[in-house]
Amino acid sequence: YRNLRVALLGAGSVGSQVARLLLSQGDEFASRIGARLELVGIAVRDVDAPRDTELPRELFTTDASSLILGADIVVELMGGIEPARGYVLEALNSGADVITANKALLATHGPELFDAAEQVGAQLYYEAAVAGAIPIIRPLRDSLAGDRINRILGIVNGTTNFVLDRMDVNGETLQDALATATDRGYAEADPTADIGGYDAAQKAAILASLAFHTVVPLDRVYREGITGVTKAQVDAAREAGAVIKLLAICERMTDPETGEEGVSARVYPALISRDHPLAAVHGAHNAVFVQAAAAGDLMFYGAGAGGVETASAVLGDVVSAARRHVVGGPGVAESTHADLPVLDIGRVVTRY
Ligand code: HSE
Repeated sequence: YRNLRVALLGAGSVGSQVARLLLSQGDEFASRIGARLELVGIAVRDVDAPRDTELPRELFTTDASSLILGADIVVELMGGIEPARGYVLEALNSGADVITANKALLATHGPELFDAAEQVGAQLYYEAAVAGAIPIIRPLRDSLAGDRINRILGIVNGTTNFVLDRMDVNGETLQDALATATDRGYAEADPTADIGGYDAAQKAAILASLAFHTVVPLDRVYREGITGVTKAQVDAAREAGAVIKLLAICERMTDPETGEEGVSARVYPALISRDHPLAAVHGAHNAVFVQAAAAGDLMFYGAGAGGVETASAVLGDVVSAARRHVVGGPGVAESTHADLPVLDIGRVVTRY
């Protein structure tokens, strides 16, 4: 196999899991791609900071620019706008494919980054930027490219869903539930981004731009967080056969005042009927409910936060990017190089 050089920027909860899986599953990835992924280094601010997983010390560096130079694939998991934006542009301008989970960066500088990628024929992948492990970017961009999406209702922030769920099911206060969510690693470094609806608004901007083939800037997304949601409101919703969820709502609509046709993206605590599939999304899970003209209603459900879960989406993008470099490799549809035997098990009585 030939080598593809992968540079990783950031070693937080997602980054350290991406590095661990790249190092431990190298052979499996190689047979799936037709090339070996070589993790050439991990750029961090502080080489000696404590990490979630044990990774070889010699991989760490504070010199991101040197790592980027000569990499085939750059994975940006630093978060925040700068210096992430500068590094992503450096990588794209050098012709590398870039994978990012950086929703803040995409929601504010998306067009600039996609233009930079187009200039050099590189690809920018961002499956992990919205709803963690859930495949939603590719379905919207590829599988549904021949349809017309009319509306997306998303539970796209695990922390706030966890908090609202605990208030509803366990009768907890917002503060207690938030402390648990933070302990479990769901919340952003500053949980204001979660409970204030900023994180969900970034994801709404990304989803609406993709679904409606337009640019929906973050500052055009209406936003309210969950800090004003009271126990009394949660109880009243339940009595009325509904539940309060922080929803990202993206839809084609007509402005009720001007009659203008357009799209709208909004984030606020909304009522959902208890019999709607989104009402069954508990804990820190996420779900994206898509209403398309021909396909009808679809729902994508799963883990929307968490280091190893989100690493799955990042690595899917790494494999996709790597396959682009391998002419005549296994390609996208035929990952048949593992040669695993097929077992004759027959029917097993199991309850799932
Ligand atoms: N803080 C985010 C959440 C992490 O709670 O969903 C994933 O973006």
